[in-house]
Amino acid sequence: MSAKKENLMEKIVSLSKRRGIIFPGSEIYGGLANTWDYGPVGVELKNNVKKIWWKYFVQEREDIVGLDAAILMNPKTWEASGHVAGFSDPLVDCKKCKTRHRGDKLLEEKFGVDKIAGIKLEDVQPRLIKEKIKCPDCGAVDWTEAKRFNLMFKTHQGVTEDSGSLVYLRPETAQGIFVNFKNVLDTTHMKLPFGIAQIGKAFRNEITPGNFTFRTREFEQMEIEYFVAEKDWKKKYEEFKEACWKFFTGYGLNPKKLRWRQHASDELSHYSKETYDIEYQFPWGWGELEGFAYRTDFDLAQHEKFSGQKLRYREPETGKEFVPHCIEPSFGLDRTALTFLLDAYTEEEVRGASGEKETRVVLKFHKDIAPIKVAILPLSKKEELTKPARDIFNSLKSHWMVQYDETQSIGKRYRRQDEIGTPFCVTVDFETLDDKAVTVRDRDTMKQERVSVDKLNKYLKDKLEAC
Ligand code: GAP
Repeated sequence: MSAKKENLMEKIVSLSKRRGIIFPGSEIYGGLANTWDYGPVGVELKNNVKKIWWKYFVQEREDIVGLDAAILMNPKTWEASGHVAGFSDPLVDCKKCKTRHRGDKLLEEKFGVDKIAGIKLEDVQPRLIKEKIKCPDCGAVDWTEAKRFNLMFKTHQGVTEDSGSLVYLRPETAQGIFVNFKNVLDTTHMKLPFGIAQIGKAFRNEITPGNFTFRTREFEQMEIEYFVAEKDWKKKYEEFKEACWKFFTGYGLNPKKLRWRQHASDELSHYSKETYDIEYQFPWGWGELEGFAYRTDFDLAQHEKFSGQKLRYREPETGKEFVPHCIEPSFGLDRTALTFLLDAYTEEEVRGASGEKETRVVLKFHKDIAPIKVAILPLSKKEELTKPARDIFNSLKSHWMVQYDETQSIGKRYRRQDEIGTPFCVTVDFETLDDKAVTVRDRDTMKQERVSVDKLNKYLKDKLEAC
């Protein structure tokens, strides 16, 4: 990783802390490794990512409906889904310093995911030794044999802690959708093809979490299980691929930093017949942003077998019953928010108030993603300006997230708003008292326009809500 790229991640972490986007988890107790809390600005960012995703994939489509299933599920779910038997990573220990690592990831860092995907468990340790892969903690090349490590978090429901009370924290939201397939079908009478979407928490006891919120043990997913007749899967798969790409690029991600990567046959998850990932070029290299799998009828068929319930679709025209096949776009919410954050981060050289060169840090978010849409900034703390400024704030706050800020110089306040990506700053100055107009500053161009107060709402609406 080059110093410049390392630097970008450090800058993002520090900006996030400074501006209330993302804080280290449980910080007053010294933290808890790889946990992160979203601050006042970060929670708006995350909510906006949820909103645009839901709008794009649920609200604007007739063929997808929503769901919000419980995190704790009957443990049979995870037997049926194959997670109890197969949801594991190859774990190796460094014999010298006793730290634990994901053997496949250590190899991937050197050779790339394409070359390592699907490596057999028994080949991991010999390959680490042959390639002289050093322990990242102590530098030794002294690895134990690789063992399978199941990633599901276990806990107990109720007051006893015996095997009968064992439950898992769901490692993917998808299974909540599969077990509700019949409920949704019976209550909505959807016709194939149709999808069920869900946003919610998932948990994985990752061996090597890291890179800020990219890989954590608690995260949120935004998933769609899209049900089709088997003969239609490929057509729908291609349509969805295009829709997913448009989602990211339409909301401003740089297409040059995005690519599709197909999983090799020995890399595919146990349920998948074909998978592509949308990858983003993160500061540390290409990484998965969204997984897109053809899950066949694997999940519904497994749940039929384990539950004894029929999970079938009855074709209205023919009366024929069958288990639908499923394609699955699966997005990480935290990873998507991080990607928008990284992609929006811009440094520009500008002239300061006294003409000297300075660096402006600005998050050039798409307006729908920007956490705060408008900042209201009275030029002075005198009541003659704060009163009309507050009146403007009150007239806008029911439409958008608006911030009122009267502390420090106007230059500093502009910088603060740039750093959280606020598209418009509205300055109330002494002239406002005479001309009943305010100065509206555009985040990206820094151009300022005088807008009359009674037309401000419409002016902002046209800019913020334009498609
Ligand atoms: N239901 C399919 C599924 O869960 P996945 O590829 O394992 O597929 C889907 O996960 C997405 O969830 C990933 O593309 C990523 O964005 C996100 N994700 C997975 N593990 C994660 C983790 N440990 N931390 C943050 N996001 C994660």
